[in-house]
Amino acid sequence: MIDLSTTIAGVRFPSCFMNASGALCVTQDELEALGKSGAGAIVTKSMTVEPRQGNPVPRYHGFPGGSINSMGLPNLGYRAYAEMIPHLKRFGKPVIASVAGLGEEDFPIIAEVINAAQPDLIEVNLSCPNIPGKPQIGYDPETSERVLKNVRPKISVPMGVKLPPYFDPAHHEIMGKVLGRCGVDFLNMINSVGNGLVVDLERETVVIKPKGGFGGLGGRLIKPVALANVRAFYKLFAGKIPIIGTGGIVEGSDVFEHILCGASAIQVGTVLVEEGLEVFDRLEAELTAILMGKGYRSIQECRGRLQEL
Ligand code: SIN
Repeated sequence: MIDLSTTIAGVRFPSCFMNASGALCVTQDELEALGKSGAGAIVTKSMTVEPRQGNPVPRYHGFPGGSINSMGLPNLGYRAYAEMIPHLKRFGKPVIASVAGLGEEDFPIIAEVINAAQPDLIEVNLSCPNIPGKPQIGYDPETSERVLKNVRPKISVPMGVKLPPYFDPAHHEIMGKVLGRCGVDFLNMINSVGNGLVVDLERETVVIKPKGGFGGLGGRLIKPVALANVRAFYKLFAGKIPIIGTGGIVEGSDVFEHILCGASAIQVGTVLVEEGLEVFDRLEAELTAILMGKGYRSIQECRGRLQEL
């Protein structure tokens, strides 16, 4: 029997697979469907103070290598999720509330009320690339530190941070120091690779409407960037801060690679949108077969064990 359960910041997850915030997790129906599915947790859409319709459509486009989106944080507003969270806990798996904000001051307001609803963990999203005129906070270390220090006292459950991809070791180090000073209990990386552009050759147009066609890239093509970030932060913290690996997971082998790089759990976005909730059972079967073939009995046994040459 292969053990695919995992523990993040003291919270036990029956399996290491979950949805990435954003994928099929806005409405109560969607969140309950995640509760009934093979996912090991329920992750809410990143919530803002007020409900949002999000950006104009088309705002998601899938293509063979992955996806591009500029959803613009469509969500029901934090009060609705605060009401929902106690009911979502009946599914017997952790609930992760994802908190965003259109301004710095929004984060502590949302966090305080959401924390009172007692999700199992709270993820602070510092990395949405899709709000016109609002740069990703995670690329600004000083603002990131201020937001995290303001939000930390409002949160009594484990607090994590959803990070954007970084592309240079200097930036991993700067952000690592910020996170080390802010009492972060877990990390989630990466958010989509922001501000990519996909062209429809036939029509000679962009493929999504917001921001002149610029949007966050996800899916298969971003896996190496995601793996590099998981590995870099795993090494920076010597494996002591648990990491949720997100980005580029399509098959069980991708999950195995994330775990080898240091992930304690994984999230799926594009493949969940494209394939539906059955993806969790497929990935579980594929990862189980890989671990059995390699003689591992649990994900714990291979976590972080990527060898360097
Ligand atoms: C979006 O709603 O635009 C995506 C959210 C995110 O990338 O954090």
